[in-house]
Amino acid sequence: MCGIVGIVGDRPVAERLVDALKRLEYRGYDSAGVATIRDGKLERRRAEGKLFNLETKLHAEPLAGDIGIAHTRWATHGAPTETNAHPHFTDGVAVVHNGIIENFSEIKDELIAAGASFSTQTDTEVVAQLLARYRRDGMEPRQAMQTMLQRVTGAYALAVLFHDLPDTIMAARSGPPLAVGYGKGEMFLGSDAIALAPFTNEITYLIDGDWAILDRKGVAIFDHDGNRVERPKQVSVAAAYMVDKGNHRHFMEKEIYQQPEVISHALGHYVDLIENRINTNALAIDFASVQSLALSACGTAYLAGLVGKYWFERYARLPVEADVASEFRYRDIPLSKNAAALFISQSGETADTLASLRYCKDEGLKIGAVVNVRESTIARESDAVFPIMAGPEIGVASTKAFTCQLSVLAALAIGAGRARGTISQLEENRLVRHLAEMPRIMSKVLNTIQPKMESLARELSKCSDVLYLGRGTSFPLAMEGALKLKEISYIHAEGYAAGELKHGPIALIDENMPVIVIAPHDRFFEKTVSNMQEVAARGGRIIFITDEKGAAASKLETMSTIVLPNVDEIIAPMIFSLPIQLLAYHTAVFMGTDVDQPRNLAKSVTVE
Ligand code: AGP
Repeated sequence: MCGIVGIVGDRPVAERLVDALKRLEYRGYDSAGVATIRDGKLERRRAEGKLFNLETKLHAEPLAGDIGIAHTRWATHGAPTETNAHPHFTDGVAVVHNGIIENFSEIKDELIAAGASFSTQTDTEVVAQLLARYRRDGMEPRQAMQTMLQRVTGAYALAVLFHDLPDTIMAARSGPPLAVGYGKGEMFLGSDAIALAPFTNEITYLIDGDWAILDRKGVAIFDHDGNRVERPKQVSVAAAYMVDKGNHRHFMEKEIYQQPEVISHALGHYVDLIENRINTNALAIDFASVQSLALSACGTAYLAGLVGKYWFERYARLPVEADVASEFRYRDIPLSKNAAALFISQSGETADTLASLRYCKDEGLKIGAVVNVRESTIARESDAVFPIMAGPEIGVASTKAFTCQLSVLAALAIGAGRARGTISQLEENRLVRHLAEMPRIMSKVLNTIQPKMESLARELSKCSDVLYLGRGTSFPLAMEGALKLKEISYIHAEGYAAGELKHGPIALIDENMPVIVIAPHDRFFEKTVSNMQEVAARGGRIIFITDEKGAAASKLETMSTIVLPNVDEIIAPMIFSLPIQLLAYHTAVFMGTDVDQPRNLAKSVTVE
């Protein structure tokens, strides 16, 4: 996902713009650039690759000017080259853009037919070219901006400079987030509150269709039709979390070790630890009146939802329809009006998940959102918001958000069971007591398994394929383990239902492909052990992740056995997430990949 920053400053801005881009690096990017206005002239510096390259260029050729815009690009149209890097310039207009202009090719053809010449392969350049054309036709900047916004379609967060408007940044939002920050004699623009944190904690999020004119006195916000509108000013908490790695090598490592702490924040919101009950005021959906539940998300968030599906069905006896958002919205699922829909998203900006939410909203369902960013688009468009309280997650590979999503889904499933009378108060008390144990158990596990996971990772880093197996809620966990490994170490990995092994994947088994079996000593344990025997009989090497009971019960020879504490089924997925996260992390470290910003990936995918 691209990053946008802008400053209408009272002093030179180039350095502060690049620093703000650094706080957006976690979104993933492959090139970057900055533009300023000085003496009525637009100037820019752009560079391929990491921000260090842009800084080197700026050091060699400094950029003056106390107004500017900057951008980190995650390529959608056009290779990640300096030529395609933003800001894009045309005749006194500079533009940075996050999103996709869907009708760019028809506009490009029209402009070329009218004599325009394009210098990039990007969709964004049509925005600069349109604005330049409208200005040549005699339009004032504000009219040119509004006319352009009525012409383009698609998803965009935009920041625009006009060479002859040296005190103004124009901005627009339709899809990807964009926030305005309030300074003293300065104004700021950023893709999220984290980018703006060192400048200000007073922010206003533009909503879809808004566009804005920023100058040193403040901001004027307009709706799509050009009517002046007011948007709420809020105090951002991002500053409080001013994100740094602490004494960890990577954000991902820091976030893995933050899990006991942030899960206790989440539990504090959803659980009454005195009464051992779920906080009913946290249950913003009346599950007693819900006849079925649709669950949709992407990536790791989807896998959390799959675990949640088992819990809602088991404890609340609610039929659950779960699917990845990119499929869900096109399946034309027959959804009853008495259904509720739950969307899970760390960023709250994932385009596919947002599109599925809007589909269910149009169908008249009650919409719930399990999100980490409360001011996000998904949160704003939901009837009920369930914050996961994980704090900013910077590593592209989701870890603490995943276990916080699981914790919130467990609380909701138990609360739904209570509301529907499908679990007794005693059962609720018992389950809640186990949830309350999580932070302590997680800390204990994190303090003991690290060395073993590191030495295992050394072995795994020599492999080219890995298979993860699990049953019950350990099946989505097997898929999550595979996703973690492949997305940060680039080693191919697959997660499979252990019962499916004999229906195909067993053909893969040989001494070169480690099989990671996730199996707490639960009601599936015996069956999973027989799957392990099928693997061992074919010379497969097994990495066995189990608990004390499981280790005692299985006599199988393994490559390695990781023994976790015996825990109740309701918290096993959170506890068993820890070894699979650490295994992926240390393998990636051995592989020397960019752990926090793996290649080709973005922290939140705001394009479909
Ligand atoms: C997780 O490790 C991945 N980076 C990715 O699958 C992510 O979970 C997915 O893109 C969904 O993001 P969201 O939770 O912000 O919607």
